[in-house]
Amino acid sequence: MATGLPAKLKPAARVAGQRQDVWSIVNEAAAASPKQPIVNMGQGFFGYNPPPFIIAAAKSALDRVDCNQYSPTKGRPRLKKAIADAYSPFWGRKLDPETEVTITTGANEGMLSAFMAFIEPGDEVVIFEPFFDQYISNIEMAGGKIVYVPMHPPQDGATKTSSAAEWTVDFNELEKAITPTTKMIVLNTPHNPVGKVYSKEELQRIGDLCVKHEVIILSDEVYDRLYYVPFTRIATLSPEIEQLTITVGSAGKNFYATGWRVGWLVGPAHLIQYVSAAHTRICYSSVSPLQEACAVGFEQAESEGFWDETVKEMKGKMTRFNEVWDELGLPYSDPEGGYFVMVNTKKIKLPENYPFPPHVASRPRDFKLAWFLIHEVGVAAIPPTEFYTEPNAWLAEDYMRFAVCKEDEVLETAKERLRGLKKYIQE
Ligand SMILES: Cc1ncc(COP(=O)(O)O)c(C=O)c1O
Repeated sequence: MATGLPAKLKPAARVAGQRQDVWSIVNEAAAASPKQPIVNMGQGFFGYNPPPFIIAAAKSALDRVDCNQYSPTKGRPRLKKAIADAYSPFWGRKLDPETEVTITTGANEGMLSAFMAFIEPGDEVVIFEPFFDQYISNIEMAGGKIVYVPMHPPQDGATKTSSAAEWTVDFNELEKAITPTTKMIVLNTPHNPVGKVYSKEELQRIGDLCVKHEVIILSDEVYDRLYYVPFTRIATLSPEIEQLTITVGSAGKNFYATGWRVGWLVGPAHLIQYVSAAHTRICYSSVSPLQEACAVGFEQAESEGFWDETVKEMKGKMTRFNEVWDELGLPYSDPEGGYFVMVNTKKIKLPENYPFPPHVASRPRDFKLAWFLIHEVGVAAIPPTEFYTEPNAWLAEDYMRFAVCKEDEVLETAKERLRGLKKYIQE
């Protein structure tokens, strides 16, 4: 916080006075830990490169004059076409690359553009807890009022491993959250951090409510190529639902390139046109050579067997990593999609009088556990109460989120270190 500055140099309220975020707490703890180097299973970035055919496309794009200059604000024609072609089969009709697809600077900026396009100050936006943290600031920057609906963890989550499907939405709570000023609902499937893939029935109920109340659906499907059970896209359930739905995608997640910052939105022309307008005002256009490389990614993924490979590989990592919880007897939510696993740590007894620093001691139990894990076993993970409002944080304070999108040998090192938790586990 900028203290001691002249009043006119004070930062705007939207960025000032925010409490220390989870990423800096975890990074700071990792830097201070005696166990170096820390095995970082916290943030969801990949520990390996995109496949060679996509890397080669990025390198050759750099040699082309047009690929080093501004792209059209709505995205490069080749990428929009490649996305329209890739998604048309799911939609069951031909998507129009000119009016129904727009390219953004990562999914995150795409969602900011969607909020900026449709939210007026005071409009309500419904989101589920736990949420992807960027939703909050993105909605607030547009002046929106957030209405939270918690997902409920499995009742026996502290004693039994069960499917991530067991995290449920209470539809009465959801319907109560929708008011005449609700403008949008944000959905995330496959879900970060829970690993739930919303079932067709759940999506139909959410979609029906949105049609009834005329609410725009922003469906964050950035993990749409990583599912281990049948995956439904809400936009494809009915023409009425499709008319209200903007679907969000991310090349970062699809092609193991989170630093490339290429994302897109697919939806009906009457929604996409305004999102594109907001995007143009926010960042004009997105990075050109990497859009070109992503176009090649979509054009060749199927013939390279990449989509099947990505599922097989990530599922393999998930199974490999979760063996350690089975060994330790710690239950987890078995993910239906994505690359995060939520582990229930209730059986871990933290030593009394452990010297947590005040900014950790004042947070829920999962923050203490994150600190403890980093300092005692040298593994970084994310405390999920960061993704809740305070009144609902208790729902997740026994959980810990681990990202498995890492090299197999990193997963094995993490497992070896996590075995050190055995002495702290009490049945
Ligand atoms: C649920 C969810 N949505 C969106 C994003 C952001 O995607 P991008 O990196 O393309 O902005 C993430 C990244 O972690 C995510 O987990």
